[in-house]
Amino acid sequence: MSTSVGGGKWEWFTPVMHALDPLRRRQMARSLEVLSKQVELGPSTRALDVACGTGTLLKALLPYGCHITAVEPTTRMFQHVQRRFPAVRVFQEPAHAMASVPDKSQDVTIVSATIHGFSPDYRQQVYRELRRVTRGAVAIIDYHANLDPLVALLELAEGGDYFRFVKVVDRELREAFPNVTTTRCGGVESLYLCRLDA
Ligand SMILES: C[S@@+](CC[C@H](N)C(=O)[O-])C[C@H]1O[C@@H](n2cnc3c(N)ncnc32)[C@H](O)[C@@H]1O
Repeated sequence: MSTSVGGGKWEWFTPVMHALDPLRRRQMARSLEVLSKQVELGPSTRALDVACGTGTLLKALLPYGCHITAVEPTTRMFQHVQRRFPAVRVFQEPAHAMASVPDKSQDVTIVSATIHGFSPDYRQQVYRELRRVTRGAVAIIDYHANLDPLVALLELAEGGDYFRFVKVVDRELREAFPNVTTTRCGGVESLYLCRLDA
């Protein structure tokens, strides 16, 4: 994954994301349950899903009743999510420039299964933007170092920064955010919760 938006490989990856959607539902529900024990997720919560893809997180988040906004730069996934979730406000924007999302407007901003694919420089731009739009907590749901061969294969195919990312994620987030806790969600993911309101 790079900073490129709209066209590029993610348009081509869209069918892969559709295929993975049912396989990822259980892990997603588990990760959100871990998150819901650490931050309020309810009707008074303004929640932002950054890089929403085909909507795996949105589907799991909707039952919590939050007021949800989502951003996704890839045209095919953006249009799919607009059709699939008419109640969600979706913007076709990249993670480093979410022009439609006002400063400090979100109680919780969630980025799932995405940050590991960005380059180190781009991650820094994204962290800056996440701090801008969030008043409560940034929840990064992403890989920790693990020996899962399927994950390694997928990440080789994706060609992102996964192999380096899992080694530096804890230190990097602690440098970018004032208050970070890491919780294993079971399976291959951890919740990196970055509080801005502590
Ligand atoms: C592995 S998918 C994860 C999607 C979703 N968050 C999920 O958990 O199912 C990575 C997503 O990042 C999106 N993406 C790629 N480059 C991006 C960028 N610069 N800004 C925001 N999203 C981006 C892709 O289009 C894709 O939807």
